[in-house]
Amino acid sequence: MQQATINTNTSIVVVRGGRRLSGHVSTSGAKNAALPILIGTLLSDEDSWISNVPQLDDVLTTLDLLTTLGKKVTVNGTVIMVSSGSTPGTTAPYELVKKMRASVLVMGPLLARWHQAKVPLPGGCAIGSRPIDLHLSGIEKLGGKVSLERGYVKLESQELIGNRISLDYPSVGATENLMMAASLACGTTVIENTAMEPEICDLGNCLSGMGAQITGLGSRIIKITGVEKLHGVHHDVIPDRIETGTLLLGCAVAGGEVTVEKTRPEFLGATLTNLRKAGVHVQIGNDSISVSNDGRPLPTDVETAPYPGFSTDMQPQWMALESTGTGVSVVVETIFESRFMHAGELQRMGANIKIRGRNAIVRGVEKLSGAPVAAPDLRAAAALILAGLAADGETEISGVQHLDRGYEHLVEKLHSLGADIRRSK
Ligand code: EPZ
Repeated sequence: MQQATINTNTSIVVVRGGRRLSGHVSTSGAKNAALPILIGTLLSDEDSWISNVPQLDDVLTTLDLLTTLGKKVTVNGTVIMVSSGSTPGTTAPYELVKKMRASVLVMGPLLARWHQAKVPLPGGCAIGSRPIDLHLSGIEKLGGKVSLERGYVKLESQELIGNRISLDYPSVGATENLMMAASLACGTTVIENTAMEPEICDLGNCLSGMGAQITGLGSRIIKITGVEKLHGVHHDVIPDRIETGTLLLGCAVAGGEVTVEKTRPEFLGATLTNLRKAGVHVQIGNDSISVSNDGRPLPTDVETAPYPGFSTDMQPQWMALESTGTGVSVVVETIFESRFMHAGELQRMGANIKIRGRNAIVRGVEKLSGAPVAAPDLRAAAALILAGLAADGETEISGVQHLDRGYEHLVEKLHSLGADIRRSK
């Protein structure tokens, strides 16, 4: 088993506010593209090389999962080589699925390759119940037999048969699972109302590089014509748009001027529009975005929505930004039913936030004050760090294990921009 945690010996991040940020920083590879793409290598027994993979705990968990399922993985910095190792397995271990719910993405590949899979139900997490009913109903449409047994989903099938699947909701995970399952099915599958996130396109492009026949990527209707076999691939993961947005908001909340490089500005349309509305100066380059800001952000309402709408993964960070705004902003969370856990922690720092169902009413205050706070999930951890950048005094953020799941060297990157931030025991 891989070493499953990158920073085992540090439990909190300490931020001392008041520093402006300045300089250049590069984006790492996208976590939410790397995870499905690595899992997609289960569809072939040939060697694959996946590059620009961020060094994250969730990636290590995924590599453990692949090893458990019979793959051999070799890590060389941000390049992961996946080849066939021992006898292929079809059961995902509960301790890995519990750690990372994206493990459910093995269902599609295992069913397509081996006509069986046994995967623990992922259970909920801090941001919601996270059901997988859309995954399972789509798999049944392809001829998969689904049964639930002692907290496990058991899947079996003869050959999967292409079909028309209409998703009740443009679920990212369901789109990914079904795209992978359909790639080796007999006949053509049309998935309607698919997610359109850049990570879906990156997975689809990687599968096409393996020989899959996929059209419609980037639209709400994806057509997959099944093939006999998929071969190995060399694939470079897209930059992480959520890390990019988080770094941009870091500058917006702390003040200063920052350029984020090695990114794809076209993936951040909604975030950049809202930053401009908040009075932040935004300049776009080919593969970079520069922002500058001095003073408090203007009040700006946001409502999360499936891509290309404003990302739910940027919502906690936006709430932190507008906690210091010059007026009242309404933050509406439409994707997850309980993704406001960070509000309580921001209130500990003096933020004035009222939660009314799916709406958070954020009344900006002149200054937040540093305090010990606890991050309940990945993006909340990032939001609390951003709030600490603008707060008076020191903020100690516990729950850093969440951060290490999804951000590669965020503390180091902010420190390189001038933030007074460090990890501590
Ligand atoms: C992916 O999660 C991302 N994770 C999430 O990022 C992201 O927030 C989410 O997409 C939305 O963009 C990865 O890609 C690993 P969904 P996923 O299926 O696939 C409901 C982060 O911080 N739903 O689009 O789980 C679900 O409950 C993480 O990086 C069903 O009801 O998201 C939720 O309310 C957090 N039934 C909504 O759809 C289903 O079968 C969106 O879920 C599936 C989903």
